[in-house]
Order: sequence, then C-alpha cells, then structure tokens
Amino acid sequence: MRNNHLIAPSVLAADFSKLGEDLQMINESDADWLHVDIMDGMFVPNISFGQNIVKTMSKVCTKPLDVHLMIEQPGRYVESFREAGAEVITVHVEATKHLHRVIQQIKATGAKAGVALNPHSNISLIEDVLEDLDLVCIMSVNPGFGGQKFIYQTLPKLRYLKEVCDKRNLSPHIEVDGGVGLQNAESILQAGANVLVAGSAVFRSEDPKATILKLKKIGSETWV
Ligand code: DX5
Ligand code: ZN
Repeated sequence: MRNNHLIAPSVLAADFSKLGEDLQMINESDADWLHVDIMDGMFVPNISFGQNIVKTMSKVCTKPLDVHLMIEQPGRYVESFREAGAEVITVHVEATKHLHRVIQQIKATGAKAGVALNPHSNISLIEDVLEDLDLVCIMSVNPGFGGQKFIYQTLPKLRYLKEVCDKRNLSPHIEVDGGVGLQNAESILQAGANVLVAGSAVFRSEDPKATILKLKKIGSETWV
C-alpha cells in the first residue's frame, strides 16, 4: 500500500440545492481533491452539468478539481474545462480515436492528464501512453450514475496496472472510481490504488467530514 493516499469526494452526490455549503464542508475536510463528473448524455446515458457550474465550483472550492470527462470526443472540451478551473482532466480511452493527441492537448493547457478505463477495457489500451500520464482512472462501475455497486473484477486489474507501472518505474496516480466506501477501501488501496473517489459513501453518510477522515486514515496503522 502506498502512503498518503488521496481522497476525492465526488460532487455528483452532493445536494445541489445547497452546493455552496457542501463545498465549504469539503474545504474544511481532509479531502485532497474534488472529483467532478461531466456526463454528456452520449458517452454515458446521463447528463450532469457543464463548464459554468465547474467554474462556479472552482471559485468556492479550495481543493484541486479532478474533472472526469465522460463525454464523446473529449478533445472538443479540454481547453474550456481547464479555463473553468480543472487541475486534472481525465478522458475515457473509449471516447476518443486519438488518445495520444488528446493527452498532449491536456498537458499543453498545464493540467494534469488522466485516462479512464471502463470496467471492460483492458490495461493494454493505455500501455503505450503510460509514460505521458499523470493519472489512470480505473472505473469500478459502468460510468453514468452514482450509487452503483463496486465491480470486484476491478481488483486484479488494479494489481496488474500497478505491476506494469512498477516494472517500468512509472508512478502515475492510480484512481478508482465507483462504489468505493469504507467497506472496500482497504482492499482497493492494497491492490495498488492511491486515489479513492467516493460519492454516495461521503455525501450520503451521516457525517461526511468524519467519513472523509476515516477514508483518509485507512491503512495508516500500517504506515511506517
Ligand atoms: C460514475 C462517476 C463516479 C460517481 C461515483 O459514473 O464517474 O465518479 O460519482 O459515485 P459513487 O461513489 O456513489 O459510486
Ligand atoms: Zn467519476
């Protein structure tokens, strides 16, 4: 398990009627990033929100915005999400024919570049661009909705990715997104992840700040 894993609560599960308060809670919490899900109704069935809302969030939120683009041909929107305040921009390997180009496009904006893989997508799809990546996001649910059940086949995939990275002396962030909570966080971290995205587990809990802290502390007793 890597030390100092990061917690990225997913704002999708926040109460948008009191978004300001929820962001304030994130600011005061031990969260490292705010995970922001952008859904276009094409790549995934759902539609979330766009650049204007992200810009508003970036004005209120003091944590870096980790923007997960679940949109077809994401190259069309890289610059505008960067302008809206994204620190990390993650695109899906399944959503573009020109992954290498889009990664360079993200880096040219100064943002950190991430690539996400759906549960069925093999690590081999990103092995040739791994050197260029700041983050790999392993989807542990089929993207499109919060509150889904964690798909356990993700764990061997994570272990394999970690092995490939170690062999090649690369250390991109390895993020896991979907169905993550206190019940499975430890095994996810043990399998090689160092960034946990958690939506419902945080925002639907009785005390979101305390849940963030618990997620942050997982494994700390084994730290040296
Ligand atoms: C799913 C999104 C996730 C989602 C996670 O398409 O990418 O980030 O918000 O929500 P939970 O933690 O509720 O599964
Ligand atoms: Zn996400």
